[in-house]
Amino acid sequence: MTRVAYLDVPATAAWVARRGPERVIADLTDAVERDFARWPELETRPRLASHSRDGVIELMPAADATTFGFKLVNGHPRNPARGYQTVTALGMLVDVHNGYPSFLAEMTILTALRTAATSALAARYLARRPSVGPGVHAGVHALIGCGAQSEFQALALRAELGLNRLRVFDVDDAAVAKLHRTATGLGFEVTVCADAADAARGADVVTTCTADKRNATVLPDDAVRAGQHLNAIGGDCPGKTELDPATVARAAVFVEHEPQTRVEGEIQNRPPGFPVTELWRVVTGQAEGRRDADQVTIFDSVGFAVEDVATLRFVADDLLGTGVPDELVQWLDLIAEPADPKDLFSLVAAAQVRASSVMTS
Ligand SMILES: NC(=O)c1ccc[n+]([C@@H]2O[C@H](COP(=O)([O-])OP(=O)(O)OC[C@H]3O[C@@H](n4cnc5c(N)ncnc54)[C@H](O)[C@@H]3O)[C@@H](O)[C@H]2O)c1
Repeated sequence: MTRVAYLDVPATAAWVARRGPERVIADLTDAVERDFARWPELETRPRLASHSRDGVIELMPAADATTFGFKLVNGHPRNPARGYQTVTALGMLVDVHNGYPSFLAEMTILTALRTAATSALAARYLARRPSVGPGVHAGVHALIGCGAQSEFQALALRAELGLNRLRVFDVDDAAVAKLHRTATGLGFEVTVCADAADAARGADVVTTCTADKRNATVLPDDAVRAGQHLNAIGGDCPGKTELDPATVARAAVFVEHEPQTRVEGEIQNRPPGFPVTELWRVVTGQAEGRRDADQVTIFDSVGFAVEDVATLRFVADDLLGTGVPDELVQWLDLIAEPADPKDLFSLVAAAQVRASSVMTS
């Protein structure tokens, strides 16, 4: 009988803890890069989104010749006030040759890891490398939005660029206190800032990861300095943006999958012909990344299925690849497999026999 490997939330957390979260994000950055480097081989399409007053629920598929994968994810900015997560997800890999599921996983933690890894990948190609040495400041990362994604973003930029100094801001003081406590424990030097403009001051990279279902200007244009790289991850659906349109207009903008980002990203506020570059084209050397040291670059991140499937494959390979399944994995009977493939009813008939023997005994 074919059973499906399943990784639940405690098992994912244990897997990340065992490998170390910063190491996992660094490895996922390489895994996502490998798939961006073979983008033309992949089947890609914009995600399917179901919008409601409170948020969005999305199905995100991607595939290659051997593996199909998808993620089911939501974005509900008002959820934390009701005690729920803003983002919750699960994902699945499916074998292309027979269509059978092969791996099922929680993807709430995995989404935070892959979003951070993709931010690191963008920074790898677009951000200036901060100079480090005697008398030279270590790199600074401004984090605007101190919610669920924030620690993962901080670890990603430290792993990629060595940014160990955080300047943080959130409208919610409790979220700031949470990030301050956790990030200090992770060895970061944390400065709490009065507002977003203050946080961005002197930063090499600015990450906006706020949640608000409206076209917000989280970071005013006059706070964005020459040479900064912005990872804008919170503006990820229609009517939900973070950056000042003037910043987007004067920056070089990089996206995941242009048809999806035109609808969901910061560029939804720009005219349809506004120039953008898909990041995979920079990864493969087909397009230019940062042009010069003064250019402002933006990674207009909305999250794309290729990143999720790369992440699921990486995790599945790590847990199952040796042929000796890891103890963290559970096995689910998700596939109906009668002895005769045409006799599906035999499974129901056998259950009826079992049920009647229980009743008569
Ligand atoms: N691009 C991607 O791939 C991707 C992946 C995951 C999440 N997201 C998005 O990232 C955002 C953050 O996700 P999360 O899980 O951390 O959400 P969260 O709700 O846990 O945290 C968001 C934080 O933003 C703060 N905030 C809201 N408005 C603000 C403002 N104007 N200035 C400063 N802070 C503000 C909130 O107080 C909250 O602490 C969401 O919008 C989510 O949809 C994007």
